[in-house]
Amino acid sequence: MIAPTLSQAITQHQQDLSIYRPRSGISLQGQIKVPGDKSISHRALMFGALAQGETKIQGLLLGEDVISTANCMRSLGADISDLTASEILVRGRGLGQFPESSDILNAGNSGTTMRLLLGILAAQENHFYTLTGDRSLRSRPMSRVVKPLTQMGATIWGRQNNNLAPLAIKGKRLRPIHYHSPVASAQVKSCILLAGLMSEGQTTVTEPALSRDHSERMLQAFGAALDIDPQTNSVTITGGNNLQGQSVIVPGDISSAAFWLVAASIIPDSELVLTNVGINPTRLGILDVLNLMGANITLEKGRIVTGEPIADLRVRHSSLQGIEIAGELTLRSIDEIPIIVVAAAFAQGKTVIKDAAELRVKECDRLKAIATQLNRMGAKISEHPDGLEIQGGHPLFGAEVASHDDHRIAMSLAIAALQASGTTTIKDASAAKISYPNFFASLQQVYSS
Ligand code: S3P
Repeated sequence: MIAPTLSQAITQHQQDLSIYRPRSGISLQGQIKVPGDKSISHRALMFGALAQGETKIQGLLLGEDVISTANCMRSLGADISDLTASEILVRGRGLGQFPESSDILNAGNSGTTMRLLLGILAAQENHFYTLTGDRSLRSRPMSRVVKPLTQMGATIWGRQNNNLAPLAIKGKRLRPIHYHSPVASAQVKSCILLAGLMSEGQTTVTEPALSRDHSERMLQAFGAALDIDPQTNSVTITGGNNLQGQSVIVPGDISSAAFWLVAASIIPDSELVLTNVGINPTRLGILDVLNLMGANITLEKGRIVTGEPIADLRVRHSSLQGIEIAGELTLRSIDEIPIIVVAAAFAQGKTVIKDAAELRVKECDRLKAIATQLNRMGAKISEHPDGLEIQGGHPLFGAEVASHDDHRIAMSLAIAALQASGTTTIKDASAAKISYPNFFASLQQVYSS
């Protein structure tokens, strides 16, 4: 019988998980409501805290990353109601109205929290703040936002030439800039747009390719003056306009749905329906990749909710083929690459993933982590500086593997374990709670043997 039983607690926060697959096999059946979109949840809390009046949020993700954002915004004086209620109320402070925090702001494991927050803090004139995060976040590059914020006039200090947290930041009256970002990054774009919102004049960000556009959509819904040029992947914000509190309904996170899309695709006789999933085009790389591999996924009941398209996704088992993933397809599926690697390990033929060097500076080095851990289970994956090559179709077997304290690695390994013979033990599987607190409960709910 099932296996997803949480085994022994190692520390208060970290737990291992053993998954046993019976010889007779298993299948996944039923309906899953995936948790709220992480990117949209962060923004709803931050923009609500910056706005005048009240913001109501339904469907907020209660993952640890979003809790880190809520805690930081509360430390900055925003009034945020109990996060466990079905509707969360944020009473904002208005632009440039955050007082100094008497303690260090802690972004935990969340790059989005730290990078977007830096854009907000840079504009709090003459106020001084300190920020830190967990071990993973303290090793992730912050110069990608420190550099443009410094050009706008902020002063930021940190280790390794102001690149690594802990960081200290002194807010200033910022000057607008036109920033040509060397990376297509929604965190960089959003950070500069937030700083630009609080400077006088027009601030433009041009990126080499379009990254996810949730900030643009939500800033416009909150009343910001934005001009978007899709030809050049540029967004211009006119500073000084106050945001007005809104009602936000957070769609389900397609990055969380991705685990079930792959699970049902690779496990025979499976059929799952994932309800209310966000299908913003900048996030649909996972659907394009799986469709190219031969997956059987249909979109049902398409609709728009608070400026974001959503649908129910039905996925049935099918036999997958290896493909090449590169360029903007890699960018649009960047958070889903670990679970795509699992799909590729069960597909026939070779899958090549290119242009994915960004994965080396996520919560862990995700290229290395997923390749080494799946290889322990019998996969044939080789690493390149900017990607992976997977020889699919080799049967996987249970082994002891490590999540590297990375939520997406933990969940990807759990899905691989469902189709691997014997027992797989995932060290620190509870990292999943960063973005998907109920992941293992949902697994238990749809599992049948
Ligand atoms: C995010 C942007 C992406 C993504 C991350 C969330 C966001 O990172 O990988 O999980 O909410 O803005 P980039 O800033 O590198 O695009």
